Amino acid sequence: MQVSEANSDVDETRRTSDARHPRVARPVVHRRRPDVVSALTALERLIRRIPKAELHIHIEGSLEPELMFEIAERNGVRLPFASAADVRRAYEFRDLRSFLDIYYAGAAVLHRARDFYDLTLAYLARAHGQRVRHAEIFFDPQTHTARGVAFETVLEGIHSATRDAERRWGISSGLILCFLRHLPAGAAMETFGRALGYRDRIVAVGLDSSEVGHPPADFKDVFDRARAEGFLAVAHAGEEGPPEYIRQALHLLKVARIDHGVRCEEDPDLVAELATARIPLTVCPLSNVKLRVFPSLREHNLKRLLDLGLRVTINSDDPAYFGGYLLENFLGAQQALGLGRADIYRLARNAFEASFLAPTVTRRFVEELDAAMAEKTES
Ligand code: HPA
Ligand code: ZN
Repeated sequence: MQVSEANSDVDETRRTSDARHPRVARPVVHRRRPDVVSALTALERLIRRIPKAELHIHIEGSLEPELMFEIAERNGVRLPFASAADVRRAYEFRDLRSFLDIYYAGAAVLHRARDFYDLTLAYLARAHGQRVRHAEIFFDPQTHTARGVAFETVLEGIHSATRDAERRWGISSGLILCFLRHLPAGAAMETFGRALGYRDRIVAVGLDSSEVGHPPADFKDVFDRARAEGFLAVAHAGEEGPPEYIRQALHLLKVARIDHGVRCEEDPDLVAELATARIPLTVCPLSNVKLRVFPSLREHNLKRLLDLGLRVTINSDDPAYFGGYLLENFLGAQQALGLGRADIYRLARNAFEASFLAPTVTRRFVEELDAAMAEKTES
């Protein structure tokens, strides 16, 4: 397979500058006063340079159409598209559900450990090229076991890629097993049973898929069991679902982080609770626009959440589907929301501090971040 090495983000940046997101990562050079231009360019250089952590990335959502075709061909799977460009044209989503239908269809090309390996290594290569130093990666075993692919095949492929990427590029990873909330809680419990043999390879459990109508409360038992067995916990809540789902994730599932969580803003008491308890939110700006949680990046509430004192982080969610990896999410949010140097620092630091890394490792990454912040910018 082909793995795109460092600097692959340049093309990616271009691809995101489409009509729907005209502000994403487009160089802002003319029309601005020279002093403003240099300030913006310095910020962009800073964003590119600093070490980053990503805490909300679905590995199946990093399947680029080209790799989808390559894997489909070698597995003899027929795709309902003529070309990679055709696939990309289908990526117009009305909401989370309309995205998930396409996302699960794409994931159906994955059959063998080698497929999961190539998928994961491709993501980590790109992440490395964008100075991601640590990634906590979601995977959805039920999407694959339902098609007859063994849990072990999925985990073996993903895990060996994370190990090889660490050896090759020094990028570290943790794996988070997500339960599909549109399926019954009993199915989640059965899936969790498989994970017990792999405690050393899975750091946490999570909850994803279609949110509305599938409240966190439904999964209390399996989360209780997972925490009792020593796994950490996170959950998607408050992406499309109401603030009440965030409360349930906190109080019933006892999660360490909330994935998305942007709808907390509708409930000031909840905002206060999240701030006091220092619960991190893994926010995904480009995803939220693509899935129409916000009409545009300029209307995203990320900056307001930061200013409310919440521990916001920036993430890519499903980068192959939403028009950008971590760097493009940072650049897009910075430009659309006018984030300053202190905001960028806070976001990057929050991600290391909200990670599941050991405190000594986190401290080393924060020192690396501080050193990158202090570097001279004229280059
Ligand atoms: N939300 C919920 N489930 C998901 C997502 C998402 O953005 N991406 C992949 N599974
Ligand atoms: Zn997600």
